[in-house]
Amino acid sequence: MYSLLRPLLFKLDPETAHNISLKGLDIANSLNLSALFAPKLQHTPVDIMGLSVKNPIGLAAGLDKNADHIDALASLGFGFIEVGTVTPRPQAGNMQPRLFRLAEHEAIINRMGFNNEGIDYLIANVKRSNYRGILGINIGKNKDTPNENAVDDYLICLEKAYPHASYITVNLSSPNTPGLRDLQFGDPLKQLLATLKERQDQLCTEHGRYVPIAIKVAPDMAESDIDDVSSSLIEYEIDGLIATNTTISREAVQHHKFGSELGGLSGAPVAQLSTQTIAAFKQRLDGKVPMIGVGGITNAQTAQEKVEAGADVLQIYTGFIYKGPQLIADALDGFNRAQK
Ligand code: FNR
Repeated sequence: MYSLLRPLLFKLDPETAHNISLKGLDIANSLNLSALFAPKLQHTPVDIMGLSVKNPIGLAAGLDKNADHIDALASLGFGFIEVGTVTPRPQAGNMQPRLFRLAEHEAIINRMGFNNEGIDYLIANVKRSNYRGILGINIGKNKDTPNENAVDDYLICLEKAYPHASYITVNLSSPNTPGLRDLQFGDPLKQLLATLKERQDQLCTEHGRYVPIAIKVAPDMAESDIDDVSSSLIEYEIDGLIATNTTISREAVQHHKFGSELGGLSGAPVAQLSTQTIAAFKQRLDGKVPMIGVGGITNAQTAQEKVEAGADVLQIYTGFIYKGPQLIADALDGFNRAQK
């Protein structure tokens, strides 16, 4: 079904196609027609961060920034869903155009800039949804919050998201919020992790429930950065690592007409970089911090490679835009092959 719709959607500009597809999916779901799109899946639960996901193929952050479409997306067969990135206050994001399809490369460049309706709007949607599976809420900082005060934004989101999330992702790796990636390293990272862990402890007592925290990192890290981040994740007992976000590298797409657009590159060209990042973290984390692998999964093979590199479960975004829900089944095949 998706292969019939895709040529039509790809005639539209990417952001319009995105909005129309998700609205269409909501309608299909409300009419109980999701089965037309959903692949047949053998759900095998997998445990990660003390949570049991229905199957190991999740939806990555950024597709449903405001949690407007959780039920419809869940009906396609994702094993878990991550919504956001959400910030404390609503913000418009960057000017359009800010989303570019590089179809020949099965890739996207985006510089959305955390366009979202704010944490209160997102939480109201989560409360309204019927979804009872594993839900990650991915949190960030507002663009106009200086890095010195970034921790306040993360705390606001953590506190509001805590009672409603299965896990919370701290996004430090979007290339589209100036200075955000600086929080991934050194003392700023340590201070942020220490503060978030302390508040997680208090919130756990308050709500009688432990909600794990995962950190999402970029694929553009030097070996010494990976050393540094790994030791901080272990030191502060962070529950999970999500590797990776989009890349700022343009090596693979430099000759494409959109190749020099600013933003983060995702899809096939980031696959290898992301898998190498997972492998490098795996070596250093020594099984102490579980990993969600994401970046350039477009078929069973790329999914298998991520698991072989050390990912415990997987997420997809760009491949899903190109391949549709069938990619959930294909990635699951790849995951299962890596287990054998
Ligand atoms: C993203 N991604 C993303 N990640 C995140 O943590 N917060 C976000 O708001 C977004 N927004 C976003 C928008 C768009 C248009 C894209 C394509 C991607 C990154 C995404 O979750 C994922 O980490 C990367 O895209 C790599 O995976 P794929 O897309 O290659 O499967």
